[in-house]
Amino acid sequence: MADEPLVLGIETSCDETGVGIVRGTTLLADAIASSVDTHARFGGVVPEIASRAHLEAMVPTIERALKDAGVSARDLDGIAVTAGPGLAGALLVGVSAAKAYAYALGKPLYGVNHLASHICVDQLEHGPLPEPTMALLVSGGHSSLLLAPDITADVRPMGATIDDAAGEAFDKIARVLDLGFPGGPVIDRLAKEGDPKAIAFPRGLSGSRDPAYDFSFSGLKTAVARWIEAKRAAGEEVPVRDVAASFQEAVVDVLTRKAVRACKDEGVDHLMIGGGVAANSRLRALAEERCERAGVRLRVPRPKLCTDNGAMVAALGAEMVARGRPASDWELSADSSLPVTDPHVPGAPDHDHVHEVSKDNLYS
Ligand code: KG4
Ligand code: ZN
Repeated sequence: MADEPLVLGIETSCDETGVGIVRGTTLLADAIASSVDTHARFGGVVPEIASRAHLEAMVPTIERALKDAGVSARDLDGIAVTAGPGLAGALLVGVSAAKAYAYALGKPLYGVNHLASHICVDQLEHGPLPEPTMALLVSGGHSSLLLAPDITADVRPMGATIDDAAGEAFDKIARVLDLGFPGGPVIDRLAKEGDPKAIAFPRGLSGSRDPAYDFSFSGLKTAVARWIEAKRAAGEEVPVRDVAASFQEAVVDVLTRKAVRACKDEGVDHLMIGGGVAANSRLRALAEERCERAGVRLRVPRPKLCTDNGAMVAALGAEMVARGRPASDWELSADSSLPVTDPHVPGAPDHDHVHEVSKDNLYS
């Protein structure tokens, strides 16, 4: 519908320069430039390289998104940008670009939270997000359980990982098994031919006294690595498929059990799963099974919308415009540890921790 807000969203919190354009809850363009290959030889994302890559990719990616969507920048109703959390220098490139475009075009600027955007993107796949929605966000960078009574104004952290992110655990175990990077897709594939019950790996933070909604994958990672080492030391062959299946089962068992329990405890009947690990076939299947048993409706966007992208930022920006939330002011700044509680970032940061981050920014 033409009267729905047309919003361009910019995402630069990590190594993906994402520019998306949506009209209301309809996706028009989702342009991505990734610097992942540039980081590969360093074995991880190098923040300065990511910032430089964003700078180079920004204008061409914005132009490509506008062309793909078949709209003119003059028609936009707003420009949304990830204000945090993420890499400080990388975020700054996105925020500066969004400000420059918004100012030059005379459009309102909306600073938004990256995690809330991961949730809101599901509107582009399954229509308006039911409120409240429970969200399980699992990627190489995050593992969070969030309750969203209002995606534009109120998101409540229920739990998070106390050590590694879920995707990080997949990547580390893949490295131990010499399966390359990223580990998730290959473990997912091999696990299909293995026995998930072959090895009883530990379920982190699952005791009766443990926090109900927090996660821990570091003990699991160590247990799997030790098990493999012991096999190798004994000169035995490592049953890679069984290890992959049993490890994967330990991760998705805990993720889905805690997510469904949170839904039941809070009386929430919708669960969305986002982030790169949401592509995992066993996670999807087990979540489906457990949600159905609990009377919870499951929503998982397609993989391209689950990983970092600009469309998710545009989706949340469009929701802000549709609900008449005020635009951010020109003081909007990047905040690497932005809390998720207020997905709408009004402008100048008012969190104590930000002053430290801003000082770092001067030198990065
Ligand atoms: O969202 P994403 O692309 O990037 C960030 O981490 O921000 O997520 C990437 C992560 C990697 O750790 C990768 O191993 C994991 O998602 N991943 C998977 C699968 N596909 C990607 N993990 C498990 N199963 C998969 N099929
Ligand atoms: Zn993300």
